[in-house]
Amino acid sequence: MTRDFSVAVLGATGAVGRSLIELLEKRNFPTRHLKLFASERSAGQTIHFRNAEITIQNIAEFYNETFDTSFLCLNNQLVREHRSRILANSNKVIDNSSAFRMEPETPLIIPEVNLDDLNKDHSYVAVPNCSAIIMLMAVAPLRTLGKIERVIISTYQSASGGGAAMMDELIEQSHAHLQGNSIKPRITPFPYAFNLFSHNTPINDLGYNGEEWKVIEESRKILKQPNLGINVTCVRVPILRCHSESITVEFADRRPSVEEIQAVLQSASGIRLVDDPKNNHFPMPSEASKQCDVFVGRIRHDLSHAQAISLFVCGDQLYKGAALNAIQIGESMIDLGYL
Ligand SMILES: NC(=O)c1ccc[n+]([C@@H]2O[C@H](COP(=O)([O-])OP(=O)(O)OC[C@H]3O[C@@H](n4cnc5c(N)ncnc54)[C@H](OP(=O)(O)O)[C@@H]3O)[C@@H](O)[C@H]2O)c1
Repeated sequence: MTRDFSVAVLGATGAVGRSLIELLEKRNFPTRHLKLFASERSAGQTIHFRNAEITIQNIAEFYNETFDTSFLCLNNQLVREHRSRILANSNKVIDNSSAFRMEPETPLIIPEVNLDDLNKDHSYVAVPNCSAIIMLMAVAPLRTLGKIERVIISTYQSASGGGAAMMDELIEQSHAHLQGNSIKPRITPFPYAFNLFSHNTPINDLGYNGEEWKVIEESRKILKQPNLGINVTCVRVPILRCHSESITVEFADRRPSVEEIQAVLQSASGIRLVDDPKNNHFPMPSEASKQCDVFVGRIRHDLSHAQAISLFVCGDQLYKGAALNAIQIGESMIDLGYL
């Protein structure tokens, strides 16, 4: 007999929250009742779910009820402040924020990669950084071909990575630019339309921005390779949805053939090969948007290094980089009998 669960989405009106609600319906997540919470600014608005309009409630009302599963789509600060109260009202909490990802006792889960790190006693689970998920979906399966020593990544990240407000701002700036008006950025640090800039997170003492540092630390934690070499550069490009990444993987002992890599990725769950050199057709945001798979292509040898290969990936970071991954964690908990 299948059970149905009481589900809460906190941060339901944001870019991740809306994708999550869409996917709960699309994937038929066994939901007995769904409650949606956001700030008091949004209270009273409605969001469509399964032939009904659900009214957004002020997050303060969350604490009046208990839930089987709560999906958090809130900023770090709110999660840091309220995690223990949220946990008191939820059997399982699945969090998209980065507030506690690097806490040693917090499982940081990509179901296709490290579901073994999840056990029945975990009541709080973190979804990894979106750029890390999209990269690891393609890189982790390659470990069957040999030990990976180093990964070099350059990202091309979309506006939706900065939330609903950054998407709105990219559209507004694009209109302004096309109408010949000057662009006055509100949220983005520099003009964004018809431009690109280094990821808008603070630079640390080592010269890496916050996004780059998350990719480094979280990838090492997920792969359980604390010394994995990672060189990453994160850039925002004027795309509404989907992160793309150029990736070079250095193997420790030998270089696999292109065919071997294609075969591994072809059979990897959650990957779609888009690798058609004849037609110059490779992964791109317009095709990967709102898709659950991470698209992978441009698979080739790195001619400058005897044991390295290069590839290009593109994934919908609101889906696999956040909401979908969170729901898959919930689905895995159900399958494993943890929920
Ligand atoms: N965007 C991505 O691609 C992505 C990927 C992976 C992880 N994440 C993480 O997921 C989380 C959500 O990101 P997002 O991009 O969806 O952000 P967003 O679009 O800015 O949405 C933020 C959500 O939080 C709510 N909120 C803000 N202040 C609140 C308050 N004081 N009380 C209650 N609710 C409040 C907002 O409600 P109102 O609409 O009422 O303000 C909205 O529902 C963040 O931690 C982010 O780092 C994002």
